[in-house]
Amino acid sequence: KLEQYNSIDDAAQLLRRSRNIMVITGAGISTSLGIPDFRSKGTGFYDKVREKGFEDAEEVFEINNFDYDPGKFFSLARDILPNLQRVSPTHAFIRLLQDKDRLQTNYTQNIDNLEALAGIDENRLIQCHGSFATATCRKCKFKVKGTEIFDDIRAERIARCKRCAQEIERKKDAPPPLKRNKSASRNRYSDDDEDEDDDIPEPGVMKPDITFFGEALPTTFFDRFTQRDAQQTDLVIVIGTSLKVAPVSEMPNYLPHPIPHIYISKEPIAHVNFDIQLLGNCDDVVFELARRAGWDLKHEMIPVG
Ligand code: OAD
Ligand code: ZN
Repeated sequence: KLEQYNSIDDAAQLLRRSRNIMVITGAGISTSLGIPDFRSKGTGFYDKVREKGFEDAEEVFEINNFDYDPGKFFSLARDILPNLQRVSPTHAFIRLLQDKDRLQTNYTQNIDNLEALAGIDENRLIQCHGSFATATCRKCKFKVKGTEIFDDIRAERIARCKRCAQEIERKKDAPPPLKRNKSASRNRYSDDDEDEDDDIPEPGVMKPDITFFGEALPTTFFDRFTQRDAQQTDLVIVIGTSLKVAPVSEMPNYLPHPIPHIYISKEPIAHVNFDIQLLGNCDDVVFELARRAGWDLKHEMIPVG
């Protein structure tokens, strides 16, 4: 790279001179609100899952596993259900970048929807791992508002599809199909109904539209990132993510090399190269960054812990 940056003052300078800032976020920007991240030792969601006796914690978000045993997800998901009505200083910082017309796109891996609450424009936000905003039937693809299955999640009960259930009821009420009638010719009705089998039909399971391992990310993610943002960005700031999950983990290295890369998190990162690493509680770091950039980040500090 042409220039060397290493201090928080360099980072503040970069902020001031950049007009197209890409912000990539993870669970660490919401922990000050009491929402657990995934991989922090002791406090992360995956350690909590392990405490409950599930050895391979990430299996909770594996799509094959969900289809095989949805009860597992529904017994654990209440802990990550978005229910908060406040945002962290780091969300406020991203909003500040937007207000200064410097935010290109916030790519978030978070499913807590707090970016929207912070007022990040829909057209500057990509929820890389989807969200709880909607849920879809695994059987018939019927889509509902996410809130419709929140009661099930809170009750640790598998959410079932209303449309499938109606369809099953309708078939129950319908007169028996003609082919059941022994007097009818066997070959006359060729479009056999598959639900004719003896097994009891069950409504499909509703899955929140969060991206599970084994599922594709939203197409808007790839299109926008590769076709547009990667070419136009002038600074990338990665906040509160361990960058352990692809393809988001591959975004920083995909960007043109001269683009300055800043990493803000509690722990240093070794497997991805950053120009500046600002380590600490991200809420404190962004306050200090804004201050040194000469900006006023207005947000009441929320006590951690
Ligand atoms: P991780 O838990 O892997 O990483 C969170 C990072 O934030 C860690 O490096 C923490 O040290 C750091 N951190 C936590 N609190 C912080 C704070 N207050 N200030 C600064 N840093 C802090 O979470 P993600 O990287 O977001 O997928 O995880 C990525 C994906 O893995 C998630 O989207 C999730 C999970 O499987 C799905 O839900 C589909
Ligand atoms: Zn259905």
